[in-house]
Amino acid sequence: MKEKPAIGVFGAGWVGLVTGACFAELGYDVVVRDVIPERIEQLRDGRVPLHEPGLGELLEQNRERLAFTTELDEIVSRPILFVCVGTPPTYSGDADLSAVWTVVDQLPALQERAILVMKSTVPVGTGEKVRAALDARGLAHVGYVSNPEFLAEGSAVRDFMNPDRVVVGAFAEADSEVVAGLYEPLEASVVRADVASAEMIKLAANAFLMTRISFINEIANVCEATGADVEQVAKGVGLDHRLGPHFLRAGIGWGGSCFPKDGVALKQLASNSGYHFQLLSAVIEVNDLQKRRVIGKLEKHLGKLRGKKVALLGLAFKPNTDDLREAPSLVLASRLLAEGAEVRAWDPVADASRLLQGVTFCGSVLDAVSGADAAVIVTEWDELQGLASEEVRGAMRNALIVDGRNLLDPEHARAAGFVYEGIGRAASPLEALPETEEREPQLEA
Ligand code: UGA
Repeated sequence: MKEKPAIGVFGAGWVGLVTGACFAELGYDVVVRDVIPERIEQLRDGRVPLHEPGLGELLEQNRERLAFTTELDEIVSRPILFVCVGTPPTYSGDADLSAVWTVVDQLPALQERAILVMKSTVPVGTGEKVRAALDARGLAHVGYVSNPEFLAEGSAVRDFMNPDRVVVGAFAEADSEVVAGLYEPLEASVVRADVASAEMIKLAANAFLMTRISFINEIANVCEATGADVEQVAKGVGLDHRLGPHFLRAGIGWGGSCFPKDGVALKQLASNSGYHFQLLSAVIEVNDLQKRRVIGKLEKHLGKLRGKKVALLGLAFKPNTDDLREAPSLVLASRLLAEGAEVRAWDPVADASRLLQGVTFCGSVLDAVSGADAAVIVTEWDELQGLASEEVRGAMRNALIVDGRNLLDPEHARAAGFVYEGIGRAASPLEALPETEEREPQLEA
């Protein structure tokens, strides 16, 4: 049997931890290095610093093959070095590669052959620049491979273990062989490419997914204007084998640590190269506007929002994660506060208290909706499936639900006495909002 090469991972963030834990699960000896001592302490104590289903179990199960360190020396002797550091946007929208360059610049004068494997999402052309920098430092024997990640938060462990494909972009055939070989136990399809193309595959895949979402969101908006139902439309469209059913869920738009950043980074990359990527610009703009449509839906039923109590249900950018980066909830909360509304918020795991001033955070859905003029489903957490209940209706001042993720069955919600507004679905008529004793008439004539 082939001996498994030892792996080093730069970055104990979300990608680095999932990558490290999954390779350990596949039997590799892994050390994960991060520059934040508290994070490494936490990991050594067996505490997982982020919410990702299955990750805690994997870290626990593979303790004997997984080490965590802040020390460079403990990682650089390994023949495979994954780079999983953050590449956040700069003010210009370009990816900030400073953490990537720190890794490259800090590599000592390695004697042994090693391969630097880039998992961080980087602009096309980065591999070429890193290659030149390594060569200039006398590290021509250190290989470079682009091996982008396609992990979605909330299902990252499953995505790693069951990949649709593994992309390996290399300058040298031998390096490509070695990195593809690491994934052999997964029996995945491997796409071999040149480095620039591998970098582009990652950006293009994310851009395509964003395009599908903005497309279905615009179809939803046209459905609302014309009386069609986007859920039925998406089903009928998605059954075409050339189109497929995925990423056709209409809603209040995407957020997260990837799409917003990678969309702008690709748009910027194109424009830096002299090309105006019009479609992508529109895709991004549609998403920005989509988040705000909720305000219009609330105003339609409640009139001016000043003084109205609005419950935001779900704050994370998607379920099964505590990630709040670029979450639509943040935009919504800020818009509502700017309109003078009182915002009560609930999420089962995400803590937005440091990001949102002036919002009341509640420990339960019932607490969040009590006395509320409207409940907005922002994230489709399972806990919200039963929202259209008698208890919730009784607790609210106005039984209005704006379902930003089309989580509920509109007929059921209406039968339960709620006024229901989804995305791209037939809306309740205005006069349907039941009068309650406490409610003053709020609809403008
Ligand atoms: C995304 C990609 O799906 C991964 O393949 C990629 O590796 C990752 O970015 C990355 O670049 O690291 P992620 O952002 O974690 O993963 O989550 P998604 O499931 O893609 O959801 C992104 C956003 O799109 C969420 O806000 C979600 O609510 C929204 N979405 C998704 C929709 O509004 N409609 C859909 O049909 C699907």
